[in-house]
Amino acid sequence: MRILAIESSCDESAAAILDSDRGLLAHELFSQIELHRIYGGVVPELASRDHVQRLLPLVSRALEVAETAPDRIEGIAYTAGPGLIGALLCGATLARSLAYAWRVPALGVHHLEGHLLAPLLESRPPPFPHVALLVSGGHTMLIEVRGIGEYTVLGETRDDAAGEAFDKSAKLLGLPYPGGPQLAALASDGRAGAYEFPRPMLDRPGLEFSFSGLKTAVLHAVRAFPAQRSPAQLQQARADVAREVQEAIVDTLVAKTLRALEATGLVDLVVAGGVGANRRLRARFDAESARRGLRVYYPRLEFCTDNAAMIAVAGLARLQAGERDGAGIAARARWPLESLQPLAVP
Ligand code: KG4
Ligand code: ZN
Repeated sequence: MRILAIESSCDESAAAILDSDRGLLAHELFSQIELHRIYGGVVPELASRDHVQRLLPLVSRALEVAETAPDRIEGIAYTAGPGLIGALLCGATLARSLAYAWRVPALGVHHLEGHLLAPLLESRPPPFPHVALLVSGGHTMLIEVRGIGEYTVLGETRDDAAGEAFDKSAKLLGLPYPGGPQLAALASDGRAGAYEFPRPMLDRPGLEFSFSGLKTAVLHAVRAFPAQRSPAQLQQARADVAREVQEAIVDTLVAKTLRALEATGLVDLVVAGGVGANRRLRARFDAESARRGLRVYYPRLEFCTDNAAMIAVAGLARLQAGERDGAGIAARARWPLESLQPLAVP
């Protein structure tokens, strides 16, 4: 089966072609980051307007790169939620219209299921069951993954997501949106021990996260930068803060994940979502895996952040199992992961 997949849940417009025999044939993406940068965050209305303009050319380009005529496409998957409702509707309407015109089935896919299944595109895919740490701009979750559609949320954040903690701290340090990767870059010049920020929830049992206290710690540190410092000293202080922010987030994510692996008795770990691209996080997990005999699986870097290839993976599995959309377009801003059904065995 060969399918087209469309992603438009937030500020990335993307299209991909996946073939069950030949693998990923094309993946095209346009990031709206520049469009939203001056506002310091994603402006939903601007995101929708841009998706409307970008999506169809991305679909055409993906078909071209995959050397696939539309009549070779046997199904269309699209992100149906969770996400910005206007943005989701852009992808959903296009997907459903193309499916109607091409007389092929369409299926709305859960965005987080896409993130979770992205490592299946790699040469060493994770086995089931495994534990997944899903860390993005909107979510921080530990999930027991027993199979496609078989998810138990073991713990999640009570307030800010890990990506949000990166982004908000970066903003306080004067870095442009989205600050996660920029904060990580600045952190590499930081000195260990110059600051000490809290590791929230580490002292408590359980698998929940809380990152909202971190931005208060950063705010206090930034306010305490003495005005009479030289530009070089100020830059060093910013790097020191960035380093400690990253350490605090990474320490917390690693400790809780190890706890989840211990609690479930599993040794296979998937790290997915935008923050999964963080080098320090990967280095820490790689060190722990060597020490504890764990196996860690990551999507390739470009499939950590939002993309259509991951939507294609989830969509292909479900379309092949015979799942199809009902009559209506089922885009939804909120959609609990645990409400998904296990993949039907055809
Ligand atoms: O998965 P994603 O593209 O979008 C959501 O579904 O939320 O994740 C985006 C988040 C942003 O908060 C971004 O700052 C963060 O992932 N991020 C990073 C890195 N790359 C992306 N955070 C820390 N270090 C990185 N290298
Ligand atoms: Zn995402």
